[in-house]
Amino acid sequence: MHLLAIESSCDETAAAVVERVSDEARPWVLRSNVVASQTAIHREWGGVVPELASRQHVRDIPGVVREAMAQAAIGWPQVDALAVTQGPGLVGSLLVGIAFAKSAAWALGRPLFAVHHLAGHIESLWLEHGRLALPAVVLVVSGGHTNLYLVARDGEYQLLGRTRDDAAGEAYDKVAKLLGLGYPGGPVIDRLAAEGDPLAIRWPGTRLTNRDRNAPERDGRFDFSFSGLKTAVLRHVRLRQEALGTARLPDHEVRDIAASFQRRVVETLTDRLFLAARWTGARSIGIAGGVSANRQLREAAQARGAALEVPVYVPRLALSTDNAAMIAAAGLRQFERGRLAPADLNASASLALV
Ligand code: KG4
Ligand code: ZN
Repeated sequence: MHLLAIESSCDETAAAVVERVSDEARPWVLRSNVVASQTAIHREWGGVVPELASRQHVRDIPGVVREAMAQAAIGWPQVDALAVTQGPGLVGSLLVGIAFAKSAAWALGRPLFAVHHLAGHIESLWLEHGRLALPAVVLVVSGGHTNLYLVARDGEYQLLGRTRDDAAGEAYDKVAKLLGLGYPGGPVIDRLAAEGDPLAIRWPGTRLTNRDRNAPERDGRFDFSFSGLKTAVLRHVRLRQEALGTARLPDHEVRDIAASFQRRVVETLTDRLFLAARWTGARSIGIAGGVSANRQLREAAQARGAALEVPVYVPRLALSTDNAAMIAAAGLRQFERGRLAPADLNASASLALV
């Protein structure tokens, strides 16, 4: 069976076709994965402008869906089911994908499955690598989220930890903006960090208590925090700008700041991830979401996984940043459980993952 999925939660309009086959170990086969990125539009503003994003989704979605079906060599009669991101995300952006998917499902008389965006990021690992050994610990790290999940059974996600303030990708984007490196910040800092000295700057440490003041009932030992680091970088940059009498720091200083910032982010992410893996007795580890594209994070996690003899999985680049293939995978989980979306499905900007 072919499932057509649509993703439009932020600034990427995406459609993909995934086929479900009768191979137990790898039941999902990717047939197409098309993404129209709006980065060039939002770069001018230093971040995503919601109204511009919604309007661009409206323009792009018919062509993106057509292309995904053409690449998968299927027509509408071969679409057996649809899936769409319900949330979380920008509500105006989500609504474009949902309206399109609901209309198509109704016109075709096919079932529609509603997907949580982060379930998509998690399932990208299963789509890419086949069945993972369970229990698995999965870090979803993107521009909007830094969450740690335990997957004890296929398709079931238990939140172990999350950021108490900024997401890791958000910290990358803000630091890049501060350094005048443009948007999105992750890829540029990743590149510059490779040429800088990661020990050049020693940032003050972040102390997190296990208790989360906003949710005291949660065990917060696997939580993250990045706003302190972001402020430390800001303070350092301002001091250097004052000392040098110019807003533009020399290239070697920018490279050192990038490398030192990245070292701290990677350390924080991998420390919590492996603490959780040991605590849960994980038999596999996954990292998904836009920041999982980071080369140093991949290398550090692979090295620590090898030392612990636990395999570490990361999706390829096209499946780690926002895409609809991952939404198709999570949609197939809903299909397998018979959880159809209601006809009055609506967008939910802060949808919880259960
Ligand atoms: O998952 P994603 O495409 O969108 C969200 O759901 O947020 O993630 C985008 C985020 C951005 O913050 C971007 O700066 C970051 O992923 N990112 C990276 C890298 N590539 C993208 N961060 C660090 N290193 C990278 N190579
Ligand atoms: Zn995402």
